[in-house]
Amino acid sequence: MKAKLTAVLIKEIRSNDLTAKEWLQETKSFLYQRGLGANSSEAKYEKMHPAPFSFTDVSKLLRFFTKRGSKVLDPFSGVGSTIKASLELQREGFGVELEPKWCEISKQRLLQECDYSIDDEHLICGDSRNLTNYFAPDFFDFIVTSPPYWNILEKKDHKANQRVLNGNATKYSENIADLGNISDYRQFLDELSKIFLDCHSLLKAGKYMCIIVSDFRHKSEFYAFHADLLNKLTDKTSSRSFQLKGIKVLIQNAKKLFPYGYPFSYVENIHHQYILVLQKQK
Ligand SMILES: C[S@@+](CC[C@H](N)C(=O)[O-])C[C@H]1O[C@@H](n2cnc3c(N)ncnc32)[C@H](O)[C@@H]1O
Repeated sequence: MKAKLTAVLIKEIRSNDLTAKEWLQETKSFLYQRGLGANSSEAKYEKMHPAPFSFTDVSKLLRFFTKRGSKVLDPFSGVGSTIKASLELQREGFGVELEPKWCEISKQRLLQECDYSIDDEHLICGDSRNLTNYFAPDFFDFIVTSPPYWNILEKKDHKANQRVLNGNATKYSENIADLGNISDYRQFLDELSKIFLDCHSLLKAGKYMCIIVSDFRHKSEFYAFHADLLNKLTDKTSSRSFQLKGIKVLIQNAKKLFPYGYPFSYVENIHHQYILVLQKQK
């Protein structure tokens, strides 16, 4: 009887449904990005968006940081990859997305790929700067997202040219509330970190937030965006400061290499992203 009770209690308080063997694998500080492959039938909707992440990558994080029934938020929901991954793993996914076009595509995607008709409480077509008006404090078990990376989509590079040729969008929107349209880097960082500090209020104590970001170049300057963002979110003088628990490197080994600086200077092919793992203290 006592053993049975202990097993029930452990199930209740443990943070995920993984076996010890599966748990160990997920504690590595790197993982290889597993895209869907251009020909996958499930890639159709992700390809429409200029900067999606694959629901298969986000599924890995959901498996570790949540269990069945957990409430999950993506405050920059794009074409709904987090909601799709949540549905498939029997978590309750919520998203906020500014641009009506991406909200519409998310709805179509979830209906077609998951047979799920999402309501306006779970997918809010709105501005994440109002997050605390949309959700109650301490509501979520996990927050995961990939935000805009400043205005790097303004770049007219080979990737943008290819998207134009394929008839796909090169930026998220023309909306001035779109964080991808802020031209000043410091202002962008301030606005973005305010949203993530609001996420702190929405998370239950002891729970995690994972932010997927990449560093980038602008003109000749290299921006360590992940470090700049971390400085803002882990400031110990703030009552809403997160504790940094780790940084996973998401290796993008399948990306094409370009001879950017050859043969004169070091110009990096940035083929990884960072997953910043932050915890709200108990
Ligand atoms: C990197 S994308 C996220 C993509 C998403 N992870 C996916 O897989 O589809 C960033 C998203 O943030 C949205 N966005 C930008 N500013 C926003 C704001 N103020 N409130 C809500 N969403 C915003 C953009 O429209 C864009 O879809």
